[in-house]
Amino acid sequence: MADQLIKGLEGVIVAQTSSSKIDGQNGRLFYRGVPIEEFVENNALYEEVVYLLWHGRLPTRSELDQFMAQLAEERPLPEGIAEAIREYPRSADPMVVLRTTVSLMAMYDENPDDLSPDNLRRIAARLLARFPTILAAFHRLRQGLEPVAPRKDLTHAANYLYMLNGEEPGPRSVEGVNAYLVLLADHGMNASTFTARVVAGTQADMYGAITAAIASLKGPLHGGAPPRVMATLEKIGSPENAERFVEEALERHERIMGIGHRVYKTWDPRAKILREMARNIAEETGNRKWFEIAHALEQAAVSRLASKGLYTNVDFYTAPLLYSVGVPVDLMTPTFAVSRIAGWTTHLMEQYADNRLIRPRAEYVGPVDEHYIPVEQRG
Ligand code: COA
Repeated sequence: MADQLIKGLEGVIVAQTSSSKIDGQNGRLFYRGVPIEEFVENNALYEEVVYLLWHGRLPTRSELDQFMAQLAEERPLPEGIAEAIREYPRSADPMVVLRTTVSLMAMYDENPDDLSPDNLRRIAARLLARFPTILAAFHRLRQGLEPVAPRKDLTHAANYLYMLNGEEPGPRSVEGVNAYLVLLADHGMNASTFTARVVAGTQADMYGAITAAIASLKGPLHGGAPPRVMATLEKIGSPENAERFVEEALERHERIMGIGHRVYKTWDPRAKILREMARNIAEETGNRKWFEIAHALEQAAVSRLASKGLYTNVDFYTAPLLYSVGVPVDLMTPTFAVSRIAGWTTHLMEQYADNRLIRPRAEYVGPVDEHYIPVEQRG
């Protein structure tokens, strides 16, 4: 047994997975052995990737149709949940809305504690199908608008944008958001995935594990970066200010959001693809401003930081991409969850299938040989 303290569990292997493989040195990411670039090059649907992760192989045409129909069927929210969302404060953080509503969903599930593979896949499909409905409903309500009912004929990505904005999105926007969902679907043992596994390790239900995963994703060191990237882009205001901004930020020893990664010490392969998607969407919408500022910021930052192994990460181009298709800043991290629910649930299926309680140890560094003093005698 290791007696060494490893802060942040950096480099510690805590589980086996056959879901995603990261090659941090070379900037590669694979889902079940397939390089992520191949999904995007072939316009693979997010739903195909989810099927691949859950079943271990890509679906046939009829399996995919059936799976998409199942997801579409699960999209509407039960009346009680829809009513509850109407009562939430309009000022609520959408990440808290999602976290709370997932916990609420357990109360509306007929069989939340059955951990058999079939039941886990049923719950996973329900969660995945409903994340967009929950977020879009809340977003509409807080603007004083009625929620838009999900459409069965749209893909996961298209339906999300449709429910958010109340109109059918353009093809490049759908392509960009679908690619975004594909690229963020799973990513090894990241903090939220580990959190989910810790909960499942006690044999608690999948809703509880996903609630905890959302709580973990909310932090700025994990999923909370895109809103900060967007704030940075707004502060820079124009591409020609990027150089000066970076220079001054580094002089003050500040971190530039969307730069650096615990695992990738070269280009994050997802960032490279999202750069192109963000560029395409900027062309479709005619709004090039955010893409151009981001591009200038990337060049100014990477030229100074690459020698330290710091490059743009996945969150960097997520910000201008999502912003340009109508995802507001505070829905960026929840939209990360819309994708990552695929990976969380895959890891949970693995954890439940081969479970061991996750119970590390702490090194005690507090006082020793102290004694209890009755309250009357304390000074
Ligand atoms: N901008 C400038 N310098 C950065 C930096 C950034 N975004 N990220 C790391 N560094 C520097 C640190 O200051 C440190 O420099 P030093 O060795 O001279 O002290 C060095 O790089 C290593 O940093 P460290 O915090 O040990 O790296 P890490 O692997 O623990 O951190 C992140 C990874 C992602 C937490 C970190 O890069 C970061 O905070 N990035 C910004 C937030 C972000 O984009 N998060 C989303 C991640 S997907």
